[in-house]
Amino acid sequence: MKVKISPSILGGSFSNIEKIIVDLDKSKAEYIHFDVMDGDFVPNLTFGAKFISDVRKFSKKIFDVHLMINRVDKFLDEYIKAGSDIITFHYEIDEDIKKIISKIKNKGIKCGLAIKPRTNWSEILPYLDLIDQVTIMTVEPGFSGQKFMNNQVDKIKNISNQIKQNNMNVEVEIDGGINFETGKICIEAGADILVAGSFLFNQGDLISSTNKMLENFN
Ligand code: DX5
Ligand code: ZN
Repeated sequence: MKVKISPSILGGSFSNIEKIIVDLDKSKAEYIHFDVMDGDFVPNLTFGAKFISDVRKFSKKIFDVHLMINRVDKFLDEYIKAGSDIITFHYEIDEDIKKIISKIKNKGIKCGLAIKPRTNWSEILPYLDLIDQVTIMTVEPGFSGQKFMNNQVDKIKNISNQIKQNNMNVEVEIDGGINFETGKICIEAGADILVAGSFLFNQGDLISSTNKMLENFN
């Protein structure tokens, strides 16, 4: 199966946001990854639904929205209205996970569930057949540019084996510290989608670095 790249705008400067989105729109990547942080669930604050809604007009790509926030239920509608195509929220929030999954699915958009490095993989098993995507964090969520955690590779293998063995229609997304080397490890472990932030932006030209990564893995 074709590996997808979801470039994370967090790796770039928001002063340049229009050009970033337009460039990613011109690239061969199918997704654009948006990291929403509330300064509460994670120790960093980024942007909210208005930001996503404002840049929606610059691209028709799939908006892959990663909510690293508490109070997902309260704010969910805003992210749906902003034009998200996939909404991923964290298993670790203190809310009714199944209720949020069905709210997202009922709106006709894809639902992802993300899992932090210190959470045991088996905890998300009860939700796997309800979602479209599982996002396995390979850094502590909060910041771009961190080092890939090798000790998460077994989690990728375990979760993707479960999906395959049970013939589930769930894609495995890996988020954090992805480059050519770590991306290869993740694909071998069962990844379908790779989120890449700082690595793509550090290469200079965003369009060519994104296309190069896609070509390298396909
Ligand atoms: C981290 C975010 C990631 C991050 C990835 O909390 O969820 O999406 O932007 O950035 P890199 O690729 O630099 O680790
Ligand atoms: Zn992310």
